[in-house]
Amino acid sequence: MSRYWSKTIKNIKPYTPGEQPKDRKFIKLNTNENPYPPSARVIEAIKKAADESLRLYPDPMGEELRATIAGYYQLRNNNVFIGNGSDELLAFSFPAFFEPSGSPVLFADITYSFYPVYAALFNTNYQLIPVDEEFNIPEEGYYQNNGGIIIANPNAPSGKGVPRETIAAILKRNESSVVIIDEAYVDFGGQSAVELITDYPNLLVIKTLSKSHSLAGLRVGYALGNEDLIEGLIRVKDSINSYTVDRLALAGAREAIKDDAYFQETRSKIIRSRERVSARLLEMGFKVIPSQANFIFVSSGQYPGSVLFQQLREKGILVRYFNKPKIDNFIRVSIGTDQEMDCFLEVMKAIAGA
Ligand SMILES: Cc1ncc(COP(=O)(O)O)c(C=O)c1O
Repeated sequence: MSRYWSKTIKNIKPYTPGEQPKDRKFIKLNTNENPYPPSARVIEAIKKAADESLRLYPDPMGEELRATIAGYYQLRNNNVFIGNGSDELLAFSFPAFFEPSGSPVLFADITYSFYPVYAALFNTNYQLIPVDEEFNIPEEGYYQNNGGIIIANPNAPSGKGVPRETIAAILKRNESSVVIIDEAYVDFGGQSAVELITDYPNLLVIKTLSKSHSLAGLRVGYALGNEDLIEGLIRVKDSINSYTVDRLALAGAREAIKDDAYFQETRSKIIRSRERVSARLLEMGFKVIPSQANFIFVSSGQYPGSVLFQQLREKGILVRYFNKPKIDNFIRVSIGTDQEMDCFLEVMKAIAGA
């Protein structure tokens, strides 16, 4: 604590990212990274972009990447906004769309734990919608006075998805609020809300290349929505930092979107592994929440999450657990390669037999 900090920073409880160990080699299933490398075309594009042009600032709007993304979703360029990871897009959304000290922004009590941090940073009131025992979020929770809505779909850390028609119903009932759908994990089996954009000017869909395109290290995300919402994000960007995405990231991201065949292949592989691992864990007697994401949420019914976490860690496998009511009996396990998941299953089998 420093006397030089602002009151906001004194009081904030910042987000804690998953551990990135340096001391020892772990099977790393704790941060929902993709176990497969990015497309070779992406690496090639980044190498090619690493030339003398780096002395120049990048295009502040990343127009070429913007056009590639717009083409991919059959939208217009002004429906697309690019950012330094989807975290940045979520952060920009708070000052862009939510009134400080205004009506509460609604999000689930069990969801991405960055949302309350942004709320604290931007002095946004919020109200938590309780999920039920199976981690479903009651739709009616969103039918009350609010200053905005954020839904991670599929949700984290449960992996539970919300059908598109439910999202449409929520949009319809909340015409005066911006509804943000955080689709960080949607490519692993969820239903995207992108096709609702033309019908709902209050919808902002936020996506990332971190998970399904194996590019967590490149830091590129994008938001899709009505051009007025995109303009709002541009106003925030140009009030903070006009050049949020660098030249190498712009080049790599563009190629990642273009190499759709590689994306389809790796995401299918992860979905197959997830289903295989979930089935095996169920056979062993673990509870597994049905997942539409690249991770699974698992509990033993016997040990708290912290014990499962520790037992796996001792065997060199890193997963995530959350010391929080409702979820402290669970661990969140990112889907790795089949070989990594076999090691994980072996340790889980020993735990189940103990
Ligand atoms: C639900 C959700 N949204 C957004 C993000 C942020 O992803 P990135 O900033 O890498 O795009 C994450 C990352 O873990 C996440 O779990």
